This record gives sequence, C-alpha cells and structure tokens, in this order.
Amino acid sequence: MTPEKLAEIHAAAFQQDRSWSAQEFNELLCSPFVTVISERGGFALTRLIAGEAELLTIAVDPTHQNQGIGRRLLNRWLAFDMDRAFLEVAADNAAARHLYTSTGFQITATRRGYYQRKDGAAVDALILTIDLTLG
Ligand SMILES: CC(C)(COP(=O)(O)OP(=O)(O)OC[C@H]1O[C@@H](n2cnc3c(N)ncnc32)[C@H](O)[C@@H]1OP(=O)(O)O)[C@@H](O)C(=O)NCCC(=O)NCCS
Repeated sequence: MTPEKLAEIHAAAFQQDRSWSAQEFNELLCSPFVTVISERGGFALTRLIAGEAELLTIAVDPTHQNQGIGRRLLNRWLAFDMDRAFLEVAADNAAARHLYTSTGFQITATRRGYYQRKDGAAVDALILTIDLTLG
C-alpha cells in the first residue's frame, strides 16, 4: 500500500483527529523496525523492537468497517514473533476498545487529556498491553 493510500484511509477513519500525511507515512515506512500490514480498505502500522511490539495506528476506511478487517489486521500483527504488545486508544473509542479487549488486551495506564480533538475537546488515552508469553 502506498503512503498516499495509507494517508487517504487514515484521514477517512480518523475524522475527529489530525490525520497523518503521506510524507509522514513515508518516513515511518523508511524507519527501522516498522512494518505495515494491509488488506483492501484497511491497514495497521506496527513497530517491533526486541520482542516488544507497538501498534502505531490501525485504520479501516468507514465504507469497509464492521466487516472483520480490523480484527484480521490485529490478529496478523499478534502472530508476529514477539513477547509483548502495546497500543494507545482514546477512552471514547468504543469500537477500538471492544476490538482490543475482546482480543485479550488489558488497560495498564491512563494519560489524562492526552488527545486533543479538532473541536478542542481533550480525551484520555488508555495504554493497553498483552503478554504473549503466557500462551
Ligand atoms: C477500530 C477499527 C480499526 C475497527 O475496524 P473494523 O474493520 O471496523 O473492525 P471489525 O469489523 O473487525 O470489528 C471488530 C469488533 O468491533 C465491534 N464494533 C464495531 N463498532 C463498534 C462500536 N461502535 N462499539 C462497540 N463495538 C464495535 C464489532 O462488532 C467487532 O466485534 P465482534 O467481532 O466481537 O463482533 C475501525 O473502526 C477504525 O478504523 N476506526 C477509526 C480509526 C480508529 O479508531 N483506530 C483505532 C485507534 S486506537
């Protein structure tokens, strides 16, 4: 998937937040340890360092949501060879929170007012982790 396509899907999926430009995606794709997992309509951008993996972002175009794409992308990421995975999610993001907690992620920290919405609202960020060494 090209940086332009990643930026297009990201902008469509994150309408309340600042979207990431094609140049930002290009820089991330060129940086070490970063991998994109994609299928038509969606992608996940991940970073894996020394057995610890971070979900940098995951986005499914609204016209393709609720068709299982997000769960497949997440499962493909979790099948990587790693011990622990973590991600950040906005406290008010019900769809993403359901996806992650139903996969086994647990809330391990909260950053108060971390996300600034385009409308000025501040929303907590939750840090979710999963230990994959436990089987
Ligand atoms: C989060 C996101 C990636 C999920 O992708 P998706 O392809 O729509 O997800 P799926 O179709 O695989 O559905 C995953 C689960 O979420 C559930 N879900 C969908 N919308 C929901 C909602 N509003 N509230 C609660 N659960 C919801 C689905 O029912 C499904 O659960 P199930 O398998 O137990 O039935 C997608 O909604 C998205 O791109 N959102 C905008 C960007 C974003 O918020 N990214 C995450 C940032 S941390």
